[in-house]
Amino acid sequence: MEETVIRFEHVWKSYGEQPVLKDFSLEIGKGEFLAVIGRSGCGKTTALKLVNGLIVPDTGRVEVKGQDISCADPVMLRRQIGYAIQNVGLFPHMTVEKNIAYVPSVSRMDGWKGEDRRKKTEELLRQVGLSPALAGRFPRELSGGQRQRVGIARALAASPDILLMDEPFGAVDAITREQLQDEILKIHRERGLTVLFVTHDIEEALKLGTRVLVMEEGTVQQCDIPSRLLSAPATDFVEKLVCRRREPEVRM
Ligand SMILES: Nc1ncnc2c1ncn2[C@@H]1O[C@H](COP(=O)(O)OP(=O)(O)O)[C@@H](O)[C@H]1O
Ligand SMILES: [Mg+2]
Repeated sequence: MEETVIRFEHVWKSYGEQPVLKDFSLEIGKGEFLAVIGRSGCGKTTALKLVNGLIVPDTGRVEVKGQDISCADPVMLRRQIGYAIQNVGLFPHMTVEKNIAYVPSVSRMDGWKGEDRRKKTEELLRQVGLSPALAGRFPRELSGGQRQRVGIARALAASPDILLMDEPFGAVDAITREQLQDEILKIHRERGLTVLFVTHDIEEALKLGTRVLVMEEGTVQQCDIPSRLLSAPATDFVEKLVCRRREPEVRM
């Protein structure tokens, strides 16, 4: 594997009495696109939020680029890590431009004022397949697919090298979803990002992931390249999961 960028080491996390992650260990290499799949409630979102420090482990540790994140400055951490979620979470009272510029502005990054901000926003809008003319609109004036794209642009604004995406395409129609999948593959390739992408759709996981992590009840069932998941499922759970897919499209 390339240099490790994210490492979970024996992480345990419970909510009250309920254990959600159980001795969860995993290494993610630079430039990987890790698709995370599992049933609702198996701990996918919890695992993702451990990476940007929104959730703290009970025991064990999470490292980003070799640093234990419990010791990291949260602002610096989130500048390096873009975060895109389902239903986007755009600020409704801010224009598209202000939404996209949000993280660079609050962390006072250079080159995000006035004309520079406008130029950078336009560039990002183009990158996610949107017209720069949308910069002045409010989220309510956009379609679901456009909002999702703005959410990705916002996640990319601070030029992070890690991108966390939590079921980002769950709420859009099938055609838009396919376009967004292709868009994110292109962005991953062009920017050399390390991506953690949560989905509950096995076809999406196999299409996007350079590796696919299958989770069940807070444990790693298998973490492997798509073709190995199909040819050598590690558990009955994985086997049932991959049998359910409709199309044989797999990332090579
Ligand atoms: N803040 C919380 N308080 C209590 N229980 C929670 C909280 N967040 C998540 N859970 C529970 O933890 C489990 C795992 O949640 P989550 O990581 O969101 O799963 P997934 O993203 O795989 O659907 C679920 O049973 C969920 O109800
Ligand atoms: Mg979730």
